[in-house]
Amino acid sequence: MKAAIISDIHSNLEALLVVLKDIKKRRLKSIFCLGDLIGYGANPNECIDLCMKESKVVVAGNHDWAAIDKADVTTFNPVAAEAIKWTQEQISKEGANKLKGLELSHKVDNLFLVHATPTEPEKWRYLFSLEEFEKEFSQFEEQICFIGHSHIPAAIYQDDNGYCDLVRDNPFPIVAKRRYIVNVGSVGQPRDLDPRASYVIYDGNKNNIEIIRLDYNIPLAQQKIIMGGLPEVLADRLLAGR
Ligand SMILES: [Fe+2]
Repeated sequence: MKAAIISDIHSNLEALLVVLKDIKKRRLKSIFCLGDLIGYGANPNECIDLCMKESKVVVAGNHDWAAIDKADVTTFNPVAAEAIKWTQEQISKEGANKLKGLELSHKVDNLFLVHATPTEPEKWRYLFSLEEFEKEFSQFEEQICFIGHSHIPAAIYQDDNGYCDLVRDNPFPIVAKRRYIVNVGSVGQPRDLDPRASYVIYDGNKNNIEIIRLDYNIPLAQQKIIMGGLPEVLADRLLAGR
């Protein structure tokens, strides 16, 4: 199986369109989406529609749940909470219903798909340190777990002795005796100081994983955020990649 894994689109239609075009150009038939379709950006309905139409699997993110009052928005920072309120006013009934139907995790072949963590995915915890990643390997059975949530692309492996480390190559081979947690980064709001949209290609035939970065029309996405009345800091951070 060959698939594209996308996550954290955050209503950024410009970034999503570029990513989908690249996926089509590479003739990848399967797209798995790890959630946070909305929040922060100016095109929630378009992003929900496109993600649902193009993806074989879509799991829920914390912003998706917050928009339909399933996640506690008081845990969000003030700007994120304001963006959720704005999104709730914009979102169509049909769009909200689509978000209500999203599952928290999904297994396909040898892959585990979840937005935040395999353990208690509804708690929306972040994995940053190697120790935090290490604890999660016992919480799924598949060889590879794909996550999003932090907006920082990275791959961590665990060998058959339990040793964990960061994968330093890109692309990198899937080694038979290793298991992986791969953060696919964010399509619509990268936070690793690289403002380009991020997604991942999984090639189960060639046993290979690659993190892809793509330029998109950031000024247009920023203009829409400002014209739409969303907090300006949300426009600034797209260019900064943080
Ligand atoms: Fe997110």
